[in-house]
Amino acid sequence: MSLNDFIKQLDDLVESASKQFEDAIHQVDHQVLEETRIEYLGAKSGKLKEAQKGLGKVAKEDKPVAGKRFNEVKTRLEELFQSAADTITGGGKKGKAETLDVTLPGVRPRLGHIHPITQTIDELKDIMGRLGFSAVEGPEIEDDWHNFEALNIPLEHPARDPLDNFYLNIAASSHGGGNQLLRSQTSTVQIRVMENKQPPIRIVSLGRVYRPDEIDATHYAMFHQIEGLLVDTNVTMADLKYVLRLFASSYLGEDVEIRFRPSFFPFTEPSVEVDMRWQDTWLEFGGAGMVDPNVLKAVGYDPEEVTGFAFGLGVERLCMRRHGINDIRYLYDSNTKFLAQF
Ligand code: FA5
Repeated sequence: MSLNDFIKQLDDLVESASKQFEDAIHQVDHQVLEETRIEYLGAKSGKLKEAQKGLGKVAKEDKPVAGKRFNEVKTRLEELFQSAADTITGGGKKGKAETLDVTLPGVRPRLGHIHPITQTIDELKDIMGRLGFSAVEGPEIEDDWHNFEALNIPLEHPARDPLDNFYLNIAASSHGGGNQLLRSQTSTVQIRVMENKQPPIRIVSLGRVYRPDEIDATHYAMFHQIEGLLVDTNVTMADLKYVLRLFASSYLGEDVEIRFRPSFFPFTEPSVEVDMRWQDTWLEFGGAGMVDPNVLKAVGYDPEEVTGFAFGLGVERLCMRRHGINDIRYLYDSNTKFLAQF
């Protein structure tokens, strides 16, 4: 190996080591610092150790110059490490810590930011708020009454199957007397609101729900729903369709196409499912319908006096369509590189 090549190799080493130690300082991360130390100064296979092998290969007459340069580089790398360690631990040796060296790179704080689902929730709340719907919350641990019974889902209904729900292994609740479970839908909040308030009602509720669904690109075992409920006199299906269209175009853009398909939910009659067009197919994003008279009766309203509509939409699917995320799992992988894009 020529002397020039050897020196070039050492210079490159110093350059890349300074960059990496500086990164460790910016990240204020002891582990990154230790990994960088091992990478360059590691006794067994550090890059410096590797470079030392080149010393044996330079011509005899160049050895003194090469050896001197090698030792300088070794000292330089040790200094880089020491100074990074001192900065990260906030000072290091006495005396040094007390002097402020304005030439050192500043420590850039690592800023977190709001998860895309939380951003979506805030935005959906805003849109519905502008339409006069106020946001309310309900518990994630529910009882039979609110999750099923009051929603016109009787005991023998398949929706109650233990295989389709996360029942909790705890004593019976005070209300409803039956099992408790992680709520499988936000429709529970409809009941909680109507039990405590007389019409007119105009609310939305956004929160987590849980189902032991098989996980794939559009299904997760924990996801979020936005529930809407409006009860008043003379409410019709036309109001429901108008509100959902306005909601979809406000969040997904004027050009979004949505369609309503006839469907069935025990707590609405008639019921529909709502799809949005995405990448040349239709993706379902929610269920909706006119509140079933039995539900109005269960909470003590008179179905002859008032009518209402309700909807429950998947927040993840709305967020995915808006941002072009084609797999729900990306949202929950905790991969900060992915999440940092939103
Ligand atoms: C319901 O949950 C009804 N409570 C909706 C409703 C409310 C109907 C009010 C009538 C009146 P459904 O099971 O279809 O319906 O779920 C609604 C939406 O939640 C789906 O369209 C989808 O967007 C989302 N969703 C359902 N399961 C999952 C899952 N495993 N992962 C992600 N999103 C899901």
